[in-house]
Amino acid sequence: MTTIDIATPSLYLDGIPHEGFTRIRETEGLVWHPYGEDGFWAVTRHADVREVSRNPEVFSSAIGHTNLWDLEADALEIRRSLIDSDAPDHTRLRRLVSKVFTPKATRGWEGTVRRITTELVDGFVATGGGDWVEMLAAPLPIRVIMAILGVPDEDAGYLVELTDHLVEGTGAGSSLPDDAYGNTTPTRLLPFNSPASHALFEYAERMRQLRLAEPADDLVTGLVRADIAGDRLSAAEYRNFFQLLVFAGNETTRTAIIHGGLAFAQQPDQWDALRDDPELAGSAVDEVIRWASPILHMRRTASRDTVLAGTAIAAGDKVVMWYAAANRDPEVFDEPFRFDVTRSDNPHFAFGGGGPHFCLGAFLAKMEIQVLLEEMVGRGIRLEQRAEPVRLASNFVHGVESLQLGVMA
Ligand code: HEM
Repeated sequence: MTTIDIATPSLYLDGIPHEGFTRIRETEGLVWHPYGEDGFWAVTRHADVREVSRNPEVFSSAIGHTNLWDLEADALEIRRSLIDSDAPDHTRLRRLVSKVFTPKATRGWEGTVRRITTELVDGFVATGGGDWVEMLAAPLPIRVIMAILGVPDEDAGYLVELTDHLVEGTGAGSSLPDDAYGNTTPTRLLPFNSPASHALFEYAERMRQLRLAEPADDLVTGLVRADIAGDRLSAAEYRNFFQLLVFAGNETTRTAIIHGGLAFAQQPDQWDALRDDPELAGSAVDEVIRWASPILHMRRTASRDTVLAGTAIAAGDKVVMWYAAANRDPEVFDEPFRFDVTRSDNPHFAFGGGGPHFCLGAFLAKMEIQVLLEEMVGRGIRLEQRAEPVRLASNFVHGVESLQLGVMA
């Protein structure tokens, strides 16, 4: 059988290879996809992604790694965070961090989100547009997550730089020398094999010390003080979670905003629909996120022999859920390749297929995008595409490096 390639990072320079995904989705059972020395089962249908996500005892996040590539046991241990763990460790960690990441707390951050959004939208409008990524999509989520964490605004650029280097690790490889940022740890032991992770860890630790000495009203303080019946985050757990938050809360929402801007520029009728009926903001947010599918996949490892979609899976087999494909499944989405802000039934899996790992920041991400849409609609502007987007060679993030958009009244 010839392989339909969906894993080569450079494929994504032309956008998500939807044709390949559609062919895999339409193939009976599951398709085995070679990768490196081994391979994975490609899970592309909505119902199958749902089943994998909601059966963590069978489809483990802790055995192996949730990204495509394998890690050696020592590297996995050092990097392990919420996302690479199973119950009971996951349950314990998730409970601790959920304590500071509640929907109520998130609602309390709306003022911060609006202040940052207003400033960035004003800047973009004042110049008549420019690089949507650099001027808006990148700074908005990183500034929000940093404000929430309690990191000073002037460090935003530095943290964006670090997370950009992390994403490189999912594509063609790192542009940094191993000893960048004073790193002395072998890069295979660092998240994304990147010395930038070392810099992020150092940053996280500095903040931990600061907040232990002098508590403030922010998320880092909440994390270093989170205590459930005497149980607390260890220094390594905190550091790995800080790293996860900065990456997860930044790259993902950025990518959703990028593709949202592009979709509205390309389909002004959808922007008009939203302008005419601001009540559509909620459904528009979900449609932007489905359309963008910022995280392309997550991997699981079968903990025992099992059967999925009629295909036998052996214990130890890798199973990769392609959210980007599930979000175009015609069994669930009417005209899945249409960007439609009025789509009311939109059970997309951009935040995961449900189950214990469902995105912790989903509520925050949606709020950021909704505030952005509100602020733009409120100014009566529309977006115009000026050049083709420059995409990222990554099979993990649906990334775009730059996108020139103009602002029209
Ligand atoms: C549009 C934006 C976002 C997208 C598309 C997204 C996507 C995802 C996905 C696909 C997962 C894995 C779900 C699974 O394995 O079942 C996840 C997990 C996670 N996300 Fe998000 N995310 C976004 C925004 C955020 C934000 C803003 C934050 C935090 C500030 C965040 C924090 C997390 C965390 C901590 C996890 C791990 C949860 C766990 O393993 O228990 N995400 N996200």
